[in-house]
Amino acid sequence: MSQPLRLGIAGLGTVGVGVVKIIQHKADMLAMRTGRDIVITAVSARDASKDRGVDLSGYAWETDPVALAKRDDVDVFVELMGGHDGPAKDATVAALGLGKDVVTANKAMLAHYGQELAVLAETHGCVLRFEAAVAGGIPIIKSLTEGLAGNTITRVMGVMNGTCNYILTRMQSAGLPYDTVFQEAADLGYLEADPTLDVGGIDAGHKLSLLSSIAFGTMVNFDGVELQGIENISIDDIVQAADMGYRIKLLGVAQMTAEGLEQRMSPCLVPTNSPLGQLEGGTNMVVVEGDEVGQVVLRGAGAGEGPTASAVMSDVLDIARGTRITTFGQPANTLKPAQAAISKIECPYYIRLELVDTPGALAKVATVLGQSDISIKRMRQYDHDGENAPVLIVTHRTDNANLLQALEKLPNTGVVIGTPVALRIEDV
Ligand code: NAP
Ligand code: HSE
Repeated sequence: MSQPLRLGIAGLGTVGVGVVKIIQHKADMLAMRTGRDIVITAVSARDASKDRGVDLSGYAWETDPVALAKRDDVDVFVELMGGHDGPAKDATVAALGLGKDVVTANKAMLAHYGQELAVLAETHGCVLRFEAAVAGGIPIIKSLTEGLAGNTITRVMGVMNGTCNYILTRMQSAGLPYDTVFQEAADLGYLEADPTLDVGGIDAGHKLSLLSSIAFGTMVNFDGVELQGIENISIDDIVQAADMGYRIKLLGVAQMTAEGLEQRMSPCLVPTNSPLGQLEGGTNMVVVEGDEVGQVVLRGAGAGEGPTASAVMSDVLDIARGTRITTFGQPANTLKPAQAAISKIECPYYIRLELVDTPGALAKVATVLGQSDISIKRMRQYDHDGENAPVLIVTHRTDNANLLQALEKLPNTGVVIGTPVALRIEDV
């Protein structure tokens, strides 16, 4: 048997403890599969006195993750602390600079610094792997970099934030308003320390930008992701979308067009009985379309101890076996700059408005839409007790520029109250 592979694990929270458990409970199986023992030599977290439910007595403790990364008895630095910079980045840079392989679950760090870290890894002859960073337990990075490597990828899309999917499906199933379900998610410990990362679509945007890089051979361009969160989705939207045969999902779509790379992460309506429409709770789904393979759909747990640790172990096992894949599936210095493009692909839109209930109000709205070349497919005004009329419009296919123009003009009609909600309807 070869020399043991020695890990230093920084971060002993949900994911770190999950990794420790797998290594402790499945040592024989892992050694059988890789031909060498996988051992932990040192760990790091902030609080050395915390009971984490696992026996850490056999491992050296480092208070400083950078010191952990630099230890001579650490071959692979496993970064499971989080944070887009700070100790996570410092320790990753330290490990790569010393020629040590790094495994991380940190999508925020890679979305911001993926290119420079990948270059650093390759310059020092080591690998930087991140299966756990996107869609938890779903092996989407391996699928793109290996299983689908013979394809030109035409589109990547999916639901990549379990917390948002939980909130949206719970609003749907229990008929509860956003604020109540948001609090439930907080009480269940689902939300990131900064909840706007989840509900603002940022976390999912980080993940989409990483998938785009591999799929299209471009440098990570998180700033190029058009982002819209779920904070403004009301129970009315959920109910009315359901009434028309749709579910609302925080959906990411990335595709390369003649104008550049389109990346958008936004709440969309998808048909209720489509695979995405049926996705419940914290589950994630990623859909990849390749020129040779057609459509591939991967579905599974997007977060949590076991699923995320499972993905971390996939990278660790690759390293133990000597499988050396570049971070984004091709040498980092061959990745092209990603020219961001705004989506020109036409689709129908769902628009919800509150109108002053006076004669001619609907006509004014229809006129503004018509002036922006938007044709109405369906329109409903709901029963209401107050002075304002809730109105729902489904448009024929139109492009984003027309929609934005109409949304800008609608307040000038004098009959629209508040900000209209406008969501794409995706035919998936
Ligand atoms: P977590 O439960 O909050 O754990 C973070 C760990 O990092 C804690 O053990 C903490 O120490 C330690 N830590 C934080 N700052 C540190 C510092 N300056 N020095 C040393 N240790 C430090 O986080 P998590 O949920 O396991 O997530 C870890 C990473 O995985 C993040 O990048 C996250 O985005 C990613 N991820 C998580 C999931 C998931 O389902 N949780 C899924 C996919 C990806 P203390 O325990 O002492 O406070
Ligand atoms: N906050 C993330 C989610 C964790 O809800 O999907 C997994 O990346």
